[in-house]
Amino acid sequence: MTGRVDGPDKVTGRARYAFEYPLDGAAYAWAVPSVIARGTIRSVDATGALAVPGVLAVITPDNAPRLPGTDDPELALFQSRAVAYRGQYVAAVVAASAEAARAAAGRVVIEYDQAAHDVTLTPDHPRLYKPDFVNPRHETDTASGDFDGAFAAAAVRVDATYRTPAEHNHPMEPHATVAVWDGGTLTVYDATQGPSRAAAQVAGVFGLEPGQVRVIAEHVGGGFGAKGMPRANVILAAMAARITGRPVKCAVTRSQMFAVTGHRAPSIQRVRLGAGPDGRLTALCHDVIDQTSTLKEFTEQSAVATRHMYAAPHRRTTHRVVRLDVPTPSWMRAPGECPGMFALESAMDELAAACGIDPVELRLRNEPAVHPETGQPFSSRHLTACLREGAARFGWAGRDPAPGGRRAGNAHRRWLTGTGVAASTYPARAMPSQARVTVSPSGRYQVLIAAADIGTGARTALLVVAAETLGVPAAAIDLRIGDSALPPAMIAGGSMGTASWTWAVIKACRALRDQVRARDGAVPPGGLSAHADTTADIGALASGPLAGRARYAFGAQFAEVRVDADTGEVRVPRLLGVFAAGRIVSPAQARSQLIGGMTMGLSMALHEESSMDPQFGDYPNHDLAGYHIAAHADVQDIDAVWIDEEEPDLGPAGAKGIGEVGIVGTAAAIASAVYHATGIRVRDLPIRLDKLLRGHP
Ligand code: MOS
Repeated sequence: MTGRVDGPDKVTGRARYAFEYPLDGAAYAWAVPSVIARGTIRSVDATGALAVPGVLAVITPDNAPRLPGTDDPELALFQSRAVAYRGQYVAAVVAASAEAARAAAGRVVIEYDQAAHDVTLTPDHPRLYKPDFVNPRHETDTASGDFDGAFAAAAVRVDATYRTPAEHNHPMEPHATVAVWDGGTLTVYDATQGPSRAAAQVAGVFGLEPGQVRVIAEHVGGGFGAKGMPRANVILAAMAARITGRPVKCAVTRSQMFAVTGHRAPSIQRVRLGAGPDGRLTALCHDVIDQTSTLKEFTEQSAVATRHMYAAPHRRTTHRVVRLDVPTPSWMRAPGECPGMFALESAMDELAAACGIDPVELRLRNEPAVHPETGQPFSSRHLTACLREGAARFGWAGRDPAPGGRRAGNAHRRWLTGTGVAASTYPARAMPSQARVTVSPSGRYQVLIAAADIGTGARTALLVVAAETLGVPAAAIDLRIGDSALPPAMIAGGSMGTASWTWAVIKACRALRDQVRARDGAVPPGGLSAHADTTADIGALASGPLAGRARYAFGAQFAEVRVDADTGEVRVPRLLGVFAAGRIVSPAQARSQLIGGMTMGLSMALHEESSMDPQFGDYPNHDLAGYHIAAHADVQDIDAVWIDEEEPDLGPAGAKGIGEVGIVGTAAAIASAVYHATGIRVRDLPIRLDKLLRGHP
């Protein structure tokens, strides 16, 4: 089975997304964003807004119901008069139509006591500090050996600083929520990556029992991490529905997504590599600086991948963060690994050039036998196989190592051409999930799990493994996901969805299959059912005989670029990714996922950039015209393949997860190809024309 099971529903428009649920008497909530980056709300005058026909309520910090669970300050909506960033929701209008709500929101008059804001990340910011840990719970700093001594003594040294800009996730479907109260219970139709987690968090905010909130997310138009946890729009919809006694719809506008739905924090990363003349690393150090908000500490773990990539006896990694008056950063596809590997892999390319060693060969020479910091064995690691397979497929052999020499084109268009390579990696993990499987006397099966398909093909992958385990055609199975009323499950995040959900589904399917076999296939009139919970199985990864193993997916990214010799325009005619990610459960969907990740990496390399306006303290991009994302014309010959890899630890499917490994390393491969084409090393993304024209040959 290669077809996407929800494909027909999507292309015919039958698939229903959160905002589309038809509900009688629905009202609409429209948020009022703060126009200052820091300060206090002095007064809110709702008179003009309330006079707009159709307006049902204006919610402000003066009249908003008190929320009992405010552990997450981003969800403590209207609970304070303090403003933490520009664009923060500070009031809202609820009206009978979205148009009336929007018009009235423009008439809410808010007076502020504005304070001076600080929104600029600098490498020597006086308020930089060492957080207790970095996301999700990694050590902030690590060190072994004597980095400073070894680096000073190294025959070849690279010492370079790389910068990545703030980036915003921008899934096609903006965040949207519909909330309906029925007495004490709340139903939420939400664009979320995780119905179980969203239900638990919303219940916490409103002081409800977990069973009192049901979150339904049948179809979700992308997330990339931005929909991994509820945002202010969910709380606003639920609060507005409570106040008005009507179902309330709340859609986040594209422009609001630059403030209230998270971003990848900008980073400043210094990488130092010391090596012998043969390219073998003796010293390696990765120092990361990034920003978080004053509301919440979120520290992107950008040096964490550096801890397991390459052998080097003397090493150090550090993270420092500063709280600025900016929106709270959040998860964006491969948080940490993605920006961090841009820096590390760019530095490896610089080292290859400095040593006069081919960049594929350099990586092969620095392959560690065990985790280079912890000494743990890898559960499976096939980076070198990916590099070799990629080099063969890409036609890497015989590459001219000199930068800036190859020309193509004609009298009208003069191109410089180059190729680049970078490694990729992402942790392979799973989280506890539950599933239930039933069979009826007529032989129809039901598979139930609160998984979410955010466009990844999760439905298809789960049907594949359920059909395989039960030994029945997929057509005999009704799969239900996307509803917190189903057995609770991990979110679609951290590249853990497939590993976590297939684990529970296979376990439940095996149990049901055993029941059916024990009865020689006779299903009683009431049917049979089996329930699985993987909490203990996954706990064994951390405490049993499997504890103490390092588990990661790996990959190798190859890029070919052409740079216009006159304008600096960069084209990427070819991208190839070769991955080792355990078992690939559903190949057609997996290829799309990996290509999607690589495309997002191309986008990061060449286009994506949210630039902070220090005057207003805001990201002024505000739409997809001002925030460029790679489109079809930017992507030419792109391919993703994988090598067969057996992963013994990660459950019965042996799947490592592929949602994020595809984006990691792509930007470094492209930046290195641009260097190979032009001789210009761009260390601050994105690679804009002006950066190439500055030193163009
Ligand atoms: Mo992903 S950024 O772990 O949802």
